[in-house]
Amino acid sequence: MAEKIPKSDRFEHLGNIVLTGDRPSGRLHIGHYAGSIQKRLEFQDQYDHNFIMIADMQALTDHAAGGEAVSQSVMQLAIDYLAVGLDPEKSTIFIQSLVPELTELTVLYMNFVSLARLKRNPTVKNEMQQKGFGETVPIGFLNYPVSQAADITAFMANLVPVGNDQLPMIEQTNEIVRSINYTYQAEVLRECEAIVSKTGRLPGTDGAAKMSKTVGNCIYLSDDEKTVKEKVMGMFTDPGHLRVEDPGKVEGNPVFTYLKAFDPDQDLVQEMADHYRRGGLGDVKVKRHLLEVMQDLLTPIRTRRAEYEKEQDQILAMLKENSAKASAIAHKTLTQLKQVMSLDY
Ligand code: TRP
Repeated sequence: MAEKIPKSDRFEHLGNIVLTGDRPSGRLHIGHYAGSIQKRLEFQDQYDHNFIMIADMQALTDHAAGGEAVSQSVMQLAIDYLAVGLDPEKSTIFIQSLVPELTELTVLYMNFVSLARLKRNPTVKNEMQQKGFGETVPIGFLNYPVSQAADITAFMANLVPVGNDQLPMIEQTNEIVRSINYTYQAEVLRECEAIVSKTGRLPGTDGAAKMSKTVGNCIYLSDDEKTVKEKVMGMFTDPGHLRVEDPGKVEGNPVFTYLKAFDPDQDLVQEMADHYRRGGLGDVKVKRHLLEVMQDLLTPIRTRRAEYEKEQDQILAMLKENSAKASAIAHKTLTQLKQVMSLDY
């Protein structure tokens, strides 16, 4: 029977280290903003060590042939990051494939994970179904939670701001950490904790549970003013709210969900919600208010975005420089692990 290693303060001196990542698969939308960007902005001011990874290797795990689209998305994602206010002075923004130590760690971790365990990961299971993967699933795809464990542990990150769907990845990461630490009776890797935003997952403009590029129910951070207006004014509301006088439903009404996520004046939102429930508050009025809130949020992002679009050379240089820094840190972890695994020649 595996004995538990008593919890120690071996990593305490490192302080809090934050790591998150996104697959570069297109532009960021307001669901990303509510789900994890807000937290990242908070954390970069609160903690000394923040890492934000553009997961290009992971993006290839379900469409290896789409490398060109992935690499184009890398720049768009970096521009989105900068435009929302993630600051490369405070957050190390880097590209996964430029940190080869992550791949080496992944291969070492693979020895501690069974096929059955990979197939049991609920998020992977879901995605496999959605994508119609059966036994022909690429091994890289099935294995991406292991590579995610490498991404997190390489930097000794203990805080990982993610959406709900990523909780199984964190669980698997900690299993790998415990298994390796136990096997070598050395606390070489650090456990981590998921930080899930209170807002939870933002519904689509059509009221569907999830924003999805393919469905086309997202508001992108890069949408122009006119597009935002069309999308907000065309949003799904309570289908039972036919006349202004009718009582309306706030729950499951995405217009109110967005107001709760983004309006700085939550007292006003509460007032509007009460009024809507009683009846007498029209959908157009609520949407107009939401439009104002969204434009206030998105206009400065849009303006900065346009500036950064012109600075792609500098951005690429920044990404490369930060990736080199990330690589040096990951190298330390890899060296320590190889030592305990007797791979120190
Ligand atoms: N799986 C994440 C996504 O789909 C991206 C990711 C890769 C990640 N490695 C990570 C997130 C490590 C948090 C920590 O967006």
